[in-house]
Amino acid sequence: MSHAAPFNYRNAKLNCESAQLDFIAREFGTPCYVYSRAALVAAFAEFDTAFAGRDHLVCYAVKANSNLAILNLFAGLGSGFDIVSSGELHRVLKAGGDPGKVVFSGVGKRPDEMRAALAAAILCFNVESAAELKVLNQVARDMNKIAPVSLRVNPDVDAKTHPYISTGLKENKFGIPFEEAETVYVSAQSLTNIRVTGLDCHIGSQLTELDPFIAACGKMLGLLDRLEARGLRIGHLDLGGGLGISYSRETPPLAREYVAALSGCVGRRKQRILIEPGRAMVGNAGLLLTRVEYLKHTPHRDFAIVDAAMNDLMRPALYDAYHEILPVIAANADNAIPYQVVGPVCETGDFLGHDRNLALSEGDLLAIMSAGAYGMSMSSNYNTRPRAAEVMVDGDQCHLIRERESLEQLTAQERILPARIPG
Ligand code: LLP
Repeated sequence: MSHAAPFNYRNAKLNCESAQLDFIAREFGTPCYVYSRAALVAAFAEFDTAFAGRDHLVCYAVKANSNLAILNLFAGLGSGFDIVSSGELHRVLKAGGDPGKVVFSGVGKRPDEMRAALAAAILCFNVESAAELKVLNQVARDMNKIAPVSLRVNPDVDAKTHPYISTGLKENKFGIPFEEAETVYVSAQSLTNIRVTGLDCHIGSQLTELDPFIAACGKMLGLLDRLEARGLRIGHLDLGGGLGISYSRETPPLAREYVAALSGCVGRRKQRILIEPGRAMVGNAGLLLTRVEYLKHTPHRDFAIVDAAMNDLMRPALYDAYHEILPVIAANADNAIPYQVVGPVCETGDFLGHDRNLALSEGDLLAIMSAGAYGMSMSSNYNTRPRAAEVMVDGDQCHLIRERESLEQLTAQERILPARIPG
């Protein structure tokens, strides 16, 4: 789905579903994340229905956006969850998610996080090293439990994406090297409190082509055959997340094309297929609403200083990522000039967009598009800026799903030293 679907101009005003964004800005203030419920539901449904008669589980990657309202919405649709910390497990449980549909990924799970996940009886641990396997076995033994495990194997496939979000190359820190996988599986089988249940990979994020997914899937199936030949029973195949979205001119495959391709690749095999999509579930369902504070015209450049910043949306600063920027009230394009859209944070890297043709006045509202994934979830309090509010729109109803943080909340955990005793 493109972001044109949930966000539309009506009478020159940008709407989310049937709610006007200028109204949302007045009601809830800026900066503010705004999500379309319908777009979230549609994104889940597109993945889920594409599997048709096949045994499958869509495990939404919580890291993309972990707001309880979003998790609760997906849980209600039958979604599973891919988590990477006990914090994310806490959120899933709080949002009413089914622990029996949770997979736990990540290279550095701590024993206390393993304990929490074992206590909750999650579906599977995606184990990323032989060392982790040993610790998990010990933790499970101490709890008198059996840990369901799939090994995350690094298929050494080039995802052709930004180097920071590519994870399936042999030089990346993720997964067990492809050549070692069989040996680690065999040793896993001999551990008393481990039960091997699946096989897992994830090659990267924001992939805009199918080829790397197919290549990874093919390698996984080869490995699966070898494991089965050794007598291991592999009940599910987790093919990770990574499907890209369109931020500007990218043309990633549709979710249903992606699922059809994976399903075709797996063919007649009986294993249940798991996927862990994050960005493609929420990215184009959300935007960041911000107000222009000042226009600053210098001899070299024209700046629009807005009230959202790199602490609210880190992707431009961190990956030089592009997010489309639209005026909330459509203006006469004849007056447009190229603006540097920047935040108030004291860093030159604090920009949201470079050279954007906009016709602006101070006080205008702007929408930073495609900000539903890795926006709020990567936000920080840098410069002691309270995190933005979040609103979910359902038709013409606007629900506040996270209050704007207060300054008191920001300092509540801090303590000053006691008075020093002289001498
Ligand atoms: N599964 C695993 C094991 C992952 O590491 C990730 C993302 C996903 C699933 C979900 O991938 P997705 O479907 O969202 O591509 N902060 C970056 C993206 C980092 C992705 C990390 N892993 C960004 O803003 O582009």
